Parts: sequence; structure tokens; C-alpha cells
Amino acid sequence: MLGGTPISILITGVAGFIGCNLAEVLLNRGNTVFGVDNLCRGRLDNLSGLSDNPHFSFSTVEMTNLTEYQEVFAAFHAREPITEVWHLAANSDIPAGVYNANVDLQDTFMTTFNTLEVMKELGVKVLAFASSSAIYGDLGEQLLVENIGPLLPISNYGAMKLASEAAISAAAENNLHRAFIFRFPNVIGIPATHGVMLDFVRKLKKTPDNLDVLGNGTQQKGYLHAEDLIDAMLFIREHSEEKRSVFNIGAGDEGVTVRYIAEEIVQATSTGASISYGEGDKGWVGDVPRFSYSVDKLKALGWAPRLGSQDAVRKAIRQIVAQEAAKQ
Ligand SMILES: NC(=O)c1ccc[n+]([C@@H]2O[C@H](COP(=O)([O-])OP(=O)(O)OC[C@H]3O[C@@H](n4cnc5c(N)ncnc54)[C@H](O)[C@@H]3O)[C@@H](O)[C@H]2O)c1
Repeated sequence: MLGGTPISILITGVAGFIGCNLAEVLLNRGNTVFGVDNLCRGRLDNLSGLSDNPHFSFSTVEMTNLTEYQEVFAAFHAREPITEVWHLAANSDIPAGVYNANVDLQDTFMTTFNTLEVMKELGVKVLAFASSSAIYGDLGEQLLVENIGPLLPISNYGAMKLASEAAISAAAENNLHRAFIFRFPNVIGIPATHGVMLDFVRKLKKTPDNLDVLGNGTQQKGYLHAEDLIDAMLFIREHSEEKRSVFNIGAGDEGVTVRYIAEEIVQATSTGASISYGEGDKGWVGDVPRFSYSVDKLKALGWAPRLGSQDAVRKAIRQIVAQEAAKQ
């Protein structure tokens, strides 16, 4: 398994923020990792630390093209039988999907649908899926537990993640032996490809005297560092025995506000810069300004994070500031 006998794993979206970190951890545990990505948001640079590893192979693949995806997957599988897929490829830009619903239909849903098709054809029976708290929609103060319903997402991204969960659930009745559905919170760290922190650091680089914030800064969310997220996923993979393992992953605290993040970033990069806030408590259409995320199921399984939201934010700010400074 993922810490015992080495196995071969396919990671989709491997050149993205979480994918490249996951690949590194799985390789360090002695596994073979095959990775695919169309590089629309991911970068080859993110894989530079892995490219010398003989147990890592990468291919650029447009996963919405079923034939292309099938060919690459089958070639990897022929080299060393793949026993599980960790499906992370998706559109990670929620506002982009609000303006053009096709982005999420293709990159968030069709990548899942095609993954299930290829897995069925090749007889690969374990799937781990990167879902999101966005599937819950905006339920205000209601505690978001895994079995709550009905689920009414408010972004195309959330809708296509929920549709992906549904397709995976159906496949678990048919050809999959195990399906792991991980509902991520806001995940932070490096290499940052998107998100509020990267956005603020880049804005301040352009205009060091002022930071423009979308929304009034009161949006409050939980944040989890990527290192903790990966640790939680591997923990669930090893300890959950459900056929369909659905888990919220998070730090389980109150989270921090956008105002807190803006102030911390100003202090770290442009001390003295003013901060201008917008109106309303939503950063964009489809943003869920505040939610109460239960991680009791994960706690009961025996997992706890190393960093709470505040410490995770501080660590990620240090990392992102260094990442952007290195690009100069
Ligand atoms: N980062 C977060 O805060 C967060 C929160 C909730 C869920 N998630 C989910 O976790 C996963 C990883 O997110 P991330 O932050 O690493 O995002 P990311 O954008 O850095 O990585 C996603 C990768 O998928 C690739 N991709 C997209 N469409 C593709 C296609 N059609 N064919 C092949 N590759 C394609 C992109 O090039 C990118 O490298 C995603 O499924 C995302 O929805 C992330």
C-alpha cells in the first residue's frame, strides 16, 4: 500500500500545486508514480525536483480527449500495472467557470468521466478524488457534515465537482472496488498557482503602496497547509474501510478572515501600504463567504493537523513571498 509494499499510482493534474507535492510524498514512500497534465495551469517547473527519479514518469495529456488519454494511460499500465488513480486534474479557477461554464464541464467533470472510462477499460479499481467544500453551496451557519443534503452548489465548479462525486459513486457500484472522495477546504502552500495569497502578493508587487481587496474582507474560511492535506489523504487511504469513503478535510477551527490575510501580507511585503476593501462579503460570484465545516469524521478516524488555519496562513505567506521573490 501507500507506505508498505510499493505500488504504481497515476496522478492526474500532477504538474499543479497539490499534484506535484503529492507525487513527491508518494515517491518518497517508495511507490512508482505516473503523472499526466495538460499544463493549462500546471507547470513543468513544478516537476523539476522529480524528473531525475527513475520511479517517476510524466506525459503531457489533454484528458478531455479520451483517445489521447487512453493511449497514454495504457502505455504506462503496460510498463507497470497501475493499481490506483489519484485524480486531481480540474479547473481550479472558480470565477473562470462562472463566466464560462464549459471550463468546468470539460476540465472538472469530463476529466473525471474519462478517468472512470479508462479505469474501467483497463481494470484499475481504486480511485481517490480531489473534491471540494464548494459542493455544499452556501448553507450559512449550518454545520457542513459529509451526509448533509440536498446539496445545492452555487458555482459551476462546485456543481461539476458534485457531478464528479456522483459519477464516481455510480462506478463504485459497477467496476471500482474503492472510491475515496476527499472534500478539500482552501489549501495553501507552494508552488502556488492560484488563490487569494498569491493574488495579494502579486498585486502588491505591481502597486506597493496599495492593496485592492475584492469584497469587504470579512469572508472567513478555514485554511489547510498542503503538507497536512496530503498527510490527511494518505491517512484516510490507509485507515478508512468504507467502499465509498467520503471525508471533509480541514483544520477544524474557525478559520481566518480575508482582512487578516491582507494585513499579514502587507506586513510581510509592503509595510505601510494601505488596504482598500470592496463591497459585500463575496469576493466573486460563487464565493461562499463563511462556512462551518465539520471534520469530526476525520478526527474520529484518528487524524489531526499539525497547523491550524492561522499558522498555515503565516507559513504559506512566507513560502509564497519567497517563491515570487525568486522569480525576479
Ligand atoms: N487548492 C485548493 O485550495 C483546492 C480546494 C478544493 C479542491 N481542490 C482541488 O484539488 C485539485 C488540485 O488543485 P490545485 O490547487 O493543485 O490546482 P492546480 O490548478 O494547481 O492543479 C490542477 C491541474 O490540473 C491540470 N488540468 C486541468 N484541466 C486538465 C485537462 N483537461 N487535462 C489534463 N490536465 C488538466 C492543470 O494543468 C493543473 O496542473 C483540483 O481538483 C482542485 O479542484 C483544490
